[in-house]
Amino acid sequence: MIVVDSIASLRALIGDWKRSGQTVGFVPTMGNLHDGHLKLVKRAKSHNDKVIVSIFVNPMQFGANEDLDAYPRTIEEDKAKLIANGADAVFLPSVSDMYPAGLDVQTYVEVPGISDVLCGASRPGHFRGVATVVSKLFNMVQPDDAFFGEKDYQQLQVIRTMVRDLSMAVTVHGVPTEREASGLAMSSRNGYLSAQEKAAASLIYKAMQQMQADIEQGNTDFVAIEKNAIAELEQHGFKNDYIRIVNAQTFMPASPDDSHIVIVVALFMGKTRLIDNLQIKR
Ligand code: PAF
Repeated sequence: MIVVDSIASLRALIGDWKRSGQTVGFVPTMGNLHDGHLKLVKRAKSHNDKVIVSIFVNPMQFGANEDLDAYPRTIEEDKAKLIANGADAVFLPSVSDMYPAGLDVQTYVEVPGISDVLCGASRPGHFRGVATVVSKLFNMVQPDDAFFGEKDYQQLQVIRTMVRDLSMAVTVHGVPTEREASGLAMSSRNGYLSAQEKAAASLIYKAMQQMQADIEQGNTDFVAIEKNAIAELEQHGFKNDYIRIVNAQTFMPASPDDSHIVIVVALFMGKTRLIDNLQIKR
């Protein structure tokens, strides 16, 4: 696996691949790779001739009181996992490569509307940071295809919208969430949980499955379904950020005749903020 740590050497490598007619699949990550990330790499491998993964803990998408400094950095383990899963290259930009003039004066990309609700409302500026770094990475890597986990469902929609609105020549693929046997969605932030908290966190998936069952049985009182789930999870020590049943495209409250609904959840277990979602297609 080729390790690339400058934009110039990245462009040279991608140029070589493209001149020889090979397609490029790209998996952007913040590292601390788990099976969910490796599933994205495998999906890219099956779709493209060459696969490149970036690892960059992006300061622009963290709020002032969030876990930027604590975010797990496990670069040697990550490289070994990428080699084992057949990645062709890993790109490791520095903060000064990405933001040469500093974050305060950085040009940014903002996707209005869907960036402002749910996680965007709880984490102001978060999606601006995501959209900006992903558009910079797309400009650097020039991938044919890019792969993102559906676990960050709102992020995926923000990126799809950005690619459409800015006419970017990349095809975005969403890959279904990888779960532990308990149902807990894989996430780097699960590493913050104690064994006891982790066991409780598996209740999130069960609560979403109960909500899905209620909807599929014809219950159209979505607000009541949300309230029941919040009450149930709060009893088990969660602090609610949001539990909503929304239209999968607009993120506005779903109406009973919507054909694609998503249950979106963000909860705190102790200091750890966990998100998850479940799609319902009808
Ligand atoms: O999902 C992530 O890990 C990050 O938000 C991403 C897409 C790599 C941008 O920093």
